[in-house]
Amino acid sequence: MIMVGSSSHTLLFSLFLIVASLVALSEGRNVYIRNDLGNGIPLNIQCKSDDKNLGDHKLNYQQEINLPIKVKFCKTTTLTCTMTWNGQLHVLDVFNSKRDGKLGKDLKWSIQNNRPCLFNSSTKKYDLCNYSYS
Ligand SMILES: *[C@@H]1O[C@H](CO)[C@@H](O)[C@H](O)[C@H]1NC(C)=O
Ligand SMILES: *[C@@H]1O[C@H](CO)[C@@H](O)[C@H](O)[C@H]1NC(C)=O
Repeated sequence: MIMVGSSSHTLLFSLFLIVASLVALSEGRNVYIRNDLGNGIPLNIQCKSDDKNLGDHKLNYQQEINLPIKVKFCKTTTLTCTMTWNGQLHVLDVFNSKRDGKLGKDLKWSIQNNRPCLFNSSTKKYDLCNYSYS
């Protein structure tokens, strides 16, 4: 009976450690989206993370928005955006924890007419262009 007090403390402490690790593992990320379509072409954008709608945005040429997201532990997180310009619809996963897990904390997209490109922090250029709209 004497041991009950200390072992329940140990249990509480272990639970605390588990909860603290889970919180630390669900990290925040920032996704930036920039309109590089060309002078005078507005970009209309609507993004959804799982079932959460992040609203409608309109970006003028060279304007950028920041969409902060929470990446949950042990769960695939995707942020999908529907983008419209010149009357045509394009869809892009701007974040996918399976695809982008190893990339840095921030993902910066340049939305261009034929393909989207990601910012490379080594070259300081939007030169990672092996992506496409669907
Ligand atoms: C960024 O560019 C450098 C230099 O070209 C390249 O080595 C690196 O792999 C690129 N970063 C990513 C995430 O691909
Ligand atoms: C581009 O992406 C495709 C599929 O996503 C991949 O098979 C290919 O190796 C990539 N090319 C380069 C140069 O990274």
